[in-house]
Amino acid sequence: MLIGIFSSVNAATDPTDASTLNTLYTSLNSAQQLTRWTASGGDPCGESWRGITCSGSRVTEIAIPGLGLNGNMGFTLDKLTSVTTFDISNNNLGNQIPYQLPPNVQRLNLANNGFSGGLPYSISLMTSLRYLNLSHNQIQGQVTVQFNTLTSLSTLYLQNNQFTGTLDVLANLPLQNLNIENNRFTGWIPNQLRGINLQSNGNSFNSGPAPPPPPGTPPATRPNRNHRSGGNNGSSNSGGTGDGGSKSGIGGGAIAGIVISVLVVGAIVAFFIIKRRSRKSPADIEKLDNQPFAPLATQEVQEIKPLQTSFATSAKTFEAPPMLNLRPPPMDRHKSFDEDDVSAKPIVPPKKVNTAPINAKSFSVADLQIATDSFNVENLIGEGSIGRVYRAQLDDGKVLAVKKVNSSALSNSEDFLDIVSEISRLNHPNVTELVGYCSEHGQHLLVYEFHKNGSLHEFLHLSDEFSKPLTWNSRVKIALGTARALEYLHEVCSPSVIHKNFKSANILLDVELNPHLSDCGLASLVHEPDQASGYSAPEVTMAGQYTINSDVYSFGVVMLELLTGRKPFDDSRPRNEQSLVRWATPQLHDIDALSKMVDPALNGLYPVKSLSRFADVIALCVQPEPEFRPPMSEVVQALVRLVQRANMSKRTFGSEGTPRANSGDADDYTP
Ligand SMILES: *[C@@H]1O[C@H](CO)[C@@H](O)[C@H](O)[C@H]1NC(C)=O
Repeated sequence: MLIGIFSSVNAATDPTDASTLNTLYTSLNSAQQLTRWTASGGDPCGESWRGITCSGSRVTEIAIPGLGLNGNMGFTLDKLTSVTTFDISNNNLGNQIPYQLPPNVQRLNLANNGFSGGLPYSISLMTSLRYLNLSHNQIQGQVTVQFNTLTSLSTLYLQNNQFTGTLDVLANLPLQNLNIENNRFTGWIPNQLRGINLQSNGNSFNSGPAPPPPPGTPPATRPNRNHRSGGNNGSSNSGGTGDGGSKSGIGGGAIAGIVISVLVVGAIVAFFIIKRRSRKSPADIEKLDNQPFAPLATQEVQEIKPLQTSFATSAKTFEAPPMLNLRPPPMDRHKSFDEDDVSAKPIVPPKKVNTAPINAKSFSVADLQIATDSFNVENLIGEGSIGRVYRAQLDDGKVLAVKKVNSSALSNSEDFLDIVSEISRLNHPNVTELVGYCSEHGQHLLVYEFHKNGSLHEFLHLSDEFSKPLTWNSRVKIALGTARALEYLHEVCSPSVIHKNFKSANILLDVELNPHLSDCGLASLVHEPDQASGYSAPEVTMAGQYTINSDVYSFGVVMLELLTGRKPFDDSRPRNEQSLVRWATPQLHDIDALSKMVDPALNGLYPVKSLSRFADVIALCVQPEPEFRPPMSEVVQALVRLVQRANMSKRTFGSEGTPRANSGDADDYTP
């Protein structure tokens, strides 16, 4: 890594662009066809890496079609903010399209790759997009992307996929060329699309005259993306499952009925939202809400597709009637999810899939025994209330982490398979991926990807004098990544997933120090709150009341750990300092006190403003009253703002948080 950093100092390429291409190269399995590309360091612009075009130091074009690439595109392409052309067509990426894509891209070609799953919502945030080619894949489901925000999109190729639903979302685009051949679109071709260059054979369109627009059709005008949810704005969509419009032959009465039910549902939802908002202290809301729309975080909320499409190959999904694409745009970051919302849930009953397929490999006990050298203590890498974790090395050299679930934690093996099925559906870059499982001979094992850098706990508390302390930037990045993981569990998964055991030991760090939250979906195995840990919210300690709000509290405790470098509970300290929350919270709003609390390992290298904003977020999360804690989407927003501001003065950071002398922004740092 150091070599990478140093060698890029004199390079022509922007260091972020260069390292993002390094990551892309690794994700694409370091393909040999990518001549001159390297896994670390290097100078894409200066060394003319294959397919890379630059302008100044920034990468503007990536054109790597037809190179037989496999692997995946990784999860960091959204850092390539100057890329306007991205063509990776005619390869074999055959996976889901990641939602991290170059945000300012104008030409995006992902054609002919065997992509499956749904469209990432992030595409609707790429407002510069003019040309989009997704043809010849196996993309499924409705066009859930809010295409009507893409006001420059003139060329759209969706042919030869498995799109369902209607074309209504495309009606108001400035399209000139549209090919939707050989999909499973239904309904009517909107009149607006009649005059353009349209190819539409091979679908199941209704040939009769188009009915009046179905209720909830996206309005012709550009929606105001910055709206608040309290008013009417959210209500037209809040019904969520409205499925009337795409069915043929709906009578006027039925439409009226749908309109009424959508309004009623909307009113109920609005009532709960208003009720919740009114309980929050106005100051808190102002603090977190006066922030402009930040696409970065909103994309995360859209990561809804794996839950809905990963099993689309099952016969059941194929037979499902096409539904109108009117899922409420999950962009509504103000949506709150606490107990009230749970009680409001029956409006849209969550589908409980019982015999859901398991999206993970089944291992035999024998395999795992060999891979762990019979669960040798030498391979023991962790131990928690649920079980021990071992490092495992497979025949092909691949290293994995195997969690051996204590039999006392499980009541029977059917439950175990249910749990496995749940976890296998979680899919988020900051959630540790389940690779496989084993349920044999009374053994219950979970096999996860392995992360080299161990846990945040080890990093913060078990480091020796030789290890490099985490920089402030890395700490913020870890907080943001894990906040996104929790946001995904709480607000994207339906029904919400409560983690119940959120702590620094469950935050694993990869080589680039990206966080991956482990033990997600294992809440049913957590029986007793670990009183002494210091992570439990008061209502958990007192009454065992786990909610998503108690996760938010534990998240605040981890942020405190990041800020102070202290353990949440440390009996080696003086009595009044043993409980981190009790000691730290009264001082969070005092700048002088903060600078004394901050982790000494940082050596004073942190921007003061960033520190105090970080502390503000902590103060909200660790409030004793669960209902006052912010939903994770608001925490994500606050951290994104913090990162954006830090990036604005990035030059003062140097590569890893080292302030340079003579920099104009140096006053942002402590002396
Ligand atoms: C879409 O991309 C594929 C693969 O690069 C290409 O063959 C096809 O011509 C493109 N479609 C159009 C019309 O640009």
